[in-house]
Amino acid sequence: MLILGIETSCDETAAALVEDGINLISQTVASSQDLHIKTGGIVPEVASREQVLAMIPVLQETLKVIKNPSREIDAIAVTNGPGLIGSLLIGVETAKALAFAWNKPLITVNHLVGHIYGNFVSDSDLVNQDIFPSVVLVASGGHSDLILLKNHGEWTWLGGTLDDAAGEAFDKAARLLNLGYPGGPAISKAATSCVNLTIQQFDNFRLPRPLINEINYDFSFSGLKTALSKLVKDHSPLSVDLTNRLAHEFQGAIVECLVAKTLKAVKSFDAKSIMLAGGVSANKRLREYCVKSAGNVPVFYPDFKFCTDNAAMIASAAYFNQKVVPWESVEPDSSLCLS
Ligand code: KG4
Ligand code: ZN
Repeated sequence: MLILGIETSCDETAAALVEDGINLISQTVASSQDLHIKTGGIVPEVASREQVLAMIPVLQETLKVIKNPSREIDAIAVTNGPGLIGSLLIGVETAKALAFAWNKPLITVNHLVGHIYGNFVSDSDLVNQDIFPSVVLVASGGHSDLILLKNHGEWTWLGGTLDDAAGEAFDKAARLLNLGYPGGPAISKAATSCVNLTIQQFDNFRLPRPLINEINYDFSFSGLKTALSKLVKDHSPLSVDLTNRLAHEFQGAIVECLVAKTLKAVKSFDAKSIMLAGGVSANKRLREYCVKSAGNVPVFYPDFKFCTDNAAMIASAAYFNQKVVPWESVEPDSSLCLS
C-alpha cells in the first residue's frame, strides 16, 4: 500500500511516499528555519507564509519518482495537529484537495503519534520484533510525553511536562547562552566541547534535576531555565569555556530527568522496549545515556533525518493506524495531544 504523507505542522513543509509503512520511496523536506534564526525563534505568521510557497514544489519533487500519482497512490495522510494553526491549514487543505481530485481515502495523523513512527521508517525490521508494550518518550519542541504503547493505535498516557517541553527548554537555554536557534543541536555541540573537564570543575555550576525522584511520570523544565539564567547573570560575560560547561550541565539535567522517568515506567509496566521520538531524540547524549541505563531492554531511536519533522513518519503512522475520515470533515486541530 503506497501512502503519500504530508506534514506542515510547524516550520517544515514535507511530503513523502512510503510503501507498507516501512519502505521509503521518496521524501522532501523544506524548512523555513533560516528565517527563524534571524528572530531567534519561530514567528507563526512567517512560518505559514513559507508553507504556502513551499507546498507545491515539495509535492512535485516527492512525486517525481512515480509515473502516475493518481493511479499509484492508495491513500493520502496528513498531520491535522498539534501545531501552528496557520501552518497546519496549508497541509490539511492540500491533502483534502488531492483526496478530492484523485478520489483517494484521507487519513489524519496526530503529529505526536507520527513522531513515534520515525522509528518504523528508520528500521524496517521493527515490525518483526516483539516490542510491545513499549515505553515511548516523545520529546519535541512543543511536547514532552511519556506513553505506554501497547500496540499500534493503543496507548496509555503516563505523564508529560508540566511547563516547558524539552526541546523548548533547549531552545530557551541556547538563547540564554547566546548559542543561536534551534537550541538542541547548538547546546549539544557546545556540551561536547567540554567532556574532558573533571567533576569538581562542575561543582559550582550544578543545576537541579526537577521531579527526578517524584512518584509520577511528569517533567518540569522551566525552573531549570530560571536556574540557568541566574548562573549566566552571576558569571557574565561568559567565557567560551564556561558557556560549554553550562551547556553540558543543562543537557545533562534534561537527559537525566527524561531517562529516569522512562526507566521508571519500563519497570512499572514490565515494558519490552523503549522508543525515543521527536526532535530531542536526535540528542546523542540522550540516546547514549538511555541505552546505557536501560540494560537489557532494547532502546530504539529514529535515524537523524526522521527525528525532526518529516512526512515519512506521517505516512508510516497512517499505514499502521488506518482511520479513514471523509475529507470534507477534516479540519486542523492545534490542540491535539496524547493524553
Ligand atoms: O519534533 P521537532 O522537529 O518539532 C516539533 O514537533 O516541535 O522538534 C524540534 C525540537 C527543537 O526544540 C530542537 O531544539 C530540538 O527538537 N532538537 C534537539 C536536537 N535536535 C533538535 N534537542 C536536543 N538535541 C538535539 N540534537
Ligand atoms: Zn515534531
